Amino acid sequence: MIFRQCGQSSLRLPALSLGFWHNFGSVDDFQTSRDMMLGAFEAGICHFDLANNYGPVPGSAEETFGRILHTDLSTHRDEMLISTKAGHDMWQGVYGTGSSRKNLIASCDQSLKRMGLDYVDIFYSHRYDGVTPIEETMQALVDIVRSGKALYVGISKYPAPLQQQCYDYLKAHDVPCLVSQYRASMFVQSAQENFDVAKRNGSGIVCFSPLAQGLLTNKYLNGIPADSRAAKPSGFLKTEQVTAERIEAARQLNKIAKERGQSLAQMALAWLLHDERVTSVIIGTSSVAQLNDNLMTLDKLTFSDEELAAINLILQKKDLTM
Ligand SMILES: NC(=O)c1ccc[n+]([C@@H]2O[C@H](COP(=O)([O-])OP(=O)(O)OC[C@H]3O[C@@H](n4cnc5c(N)ncnc54)[C@H](OP(=O)(O)O)[C@@H]3O)[C@@H](O)[C@H]2O)c1
Repeated sequence: MIFRQCGQSSLRLPALSLGFWHNFGSVDDFQTSRDMMLGAFEAGICHFDLANNYGPVPGSAEETFGRILHTDLSTHRDEMLISTKAGHDMWQGVYGTGSSRKNLIASCDQSLKRMGLDYVDIFYSHRYDGVTPIEETMQALVDIVRSGKALYVGISKYPAPLQQQCYDYLKAHDVPCLVSQYRASMFVQSAQENFDVAKRNGSGIVCFSPLAQGLLTNKYLNGIPADSRAAKPSGFLKTEQVTAERIEAARQLNKIAKERGQSLAQMALAWLLHDERVTSVIIGTSSVAQLNDNLMTLDKLTFSDEELAAINLILQKKDLTM
């Protein structure tokens, strides 16, 4: 595994992290989830990205993670970086969503219980909810660290001006923001300003949905397979997002990937890691074969100027952005 320094901290993250948004819920096959988590850890992916609401059902991904951790990896806790988040819809009632102090602190306690942990390594505010003052959310993060329930804190998806306010508040309270999460892929390049703000403030950058939920792989090149995220009722990728324009772009990108001796997924991951601002890319997989495919990304991270220009030409086409 390749490790990268996480912002201005002593902590290093693996270039690839494993995400639990899909494929680790109570609706999924436990043995496959277990094989993927153990395979990832074996390959050096020691950073696991969770959130209170991951499932379905919400909370069940944390339960699956805790079950595997305690059954198979209990002696390895200190080799792992375990992240969780709060902010999206989780439990009934007005306090079960958003970025209030009430939601974050209760949620952190619930997540620790579900995973059977005393503390998480990184606790994130999952989103800006449009209502809660930044100071309230950030003070909740500070207090979670002070109470020993998290070692570090992070923010996810905050728009740039608010992102800066988060960094300023956290820094002033001696709990610097370790890491910032943004959606980023060849089809989603809207977080460039967020990357710059994070870098200027010494926060590491973690990218999520790096394969555009599967569109930047060979999965949809010949239609929507039954075992795909787009076809599953619980999948976040909608069939209407699998457009002719994106599939045509994926076909053209796939040609370049083949010339590089890579799968499209490997090239799309390498393309993100080529950006020196990026600390880690969180992959989501539904099989061990996908995990192994993605791990081979690390064999070739460099691009020639000609390859980058050819990729950019494809990505400039209309209607690709998600
Ligand atoms: N902070 C946030 O708000 C936020 C939001 C979203 C995600 N995240 C984090 O980021 C993680 C990754 O997001 P994501 O799951 O959307 O990532 P992604 O890599 O864009 O999509 C993963 C999906 O792509 C397909 N895939 C992966 N590798 C493949 C391969 N080698 N060949 C063919 N298909 C492949 C699989 O689809 P199939 O299932 O169809 O096989 C897999 O489920 C999440 O688990 C979560 O931890 C964070």
